[in-house]
Amino acid sequence: MSHRESIPPHPASSLRISPLSEPWSHRVQLDDGRVLWLRPIAPADAEPIRQVFPLLSSEEIRLRFLHPIKEMTSQMAQRLTHIDPLSQFALVLAEPLPPGEALVGAVARLAIDADTRHAEFAILVSRFLAGRGLGRLLMKRLVVWARQHALDSIYGDVLDENLPMLSLAETLGFRREHLADEPGLVRVRLDLRPEAGR
Ligand SMILES: CC(C)(COP(=O)(O)OP(=O)(O)OC[C@H]1O[C@@H](n2cnc3c(N)ncnc32)[C@H](O)[C@@H]1OP(=O)(O)O)[C@@H](O)C(=O)NCCC(=O)NCCS
Repeated sequence: MSHRESIPPHPASSLRISPLSEPWSHRVQLDDGRVLWLRPIAPADAEPIRQVFPLLSSEEIRLRFLHPIKEMTSQMAQRLTHIDPLSQFALVLAEPLPPGEALVGAVARLAIDADTRHAEFAILVSRFLAGRGLGRLLMKRLVVWARQHALDSIYGDVLDENLPMLSLAETLGFRREHLADEPGLVRVRLDLRPEAGR
């Protein structure tokens, strides 16, 4: 299947999305005219991601990583940007510049759990870009990748106070699961098996 496909717009979203020549890459124009590139994360994104980390609020960091992190070390940034293509997928929304030069404003990733057909997602859309349909766009792209890789489900652990993420997940068809040993956390899971759609 070609990755240069058009993405059908969300009816309520004013994003203008058109394919770029690279796989999984799209030009995204926001309603205020700003242009971003939606593209796979690249190793060269490590340093820009590390540098932009201090701009995140402690709340954004806590919601994404589920615990406080003071600093994004080089090691962490390397780990987040060096993807094993067999078991991981990560997209960024970044300035329309080559990786390494572009500021990164959002990251969404999937990692397949070893020896399973289930993958955990994680997503962060910085508050400078939030509320414009980009979280929904990123999550839908993760779902497309997961379906293409014949995964059984994708899931994420979300703080129970994180209404934006819980609402987004619910509208995409994720179901909540109880995590007995993790008070304050909700697991949301999207069942991708063919029989789940029946
Ligand atoms: C959760 C998050 C990814 C949403 O990204 P976003 O780009 O703002 O989301 P969108 O604009 O695409 O909105 C998608 C849906 O999310 C929900 N949502 C977004 N912001 C919301 C808010 N402030 N209150 C309630 N629901 C909200 C809505 O269901 C919305 O759908 P709608 O626009 O049709 O009403 C973003 O807020 C974020 O990165 N938060 C911090 C990190 C985090 O919580 N990560 C999740 C755990 S891994």
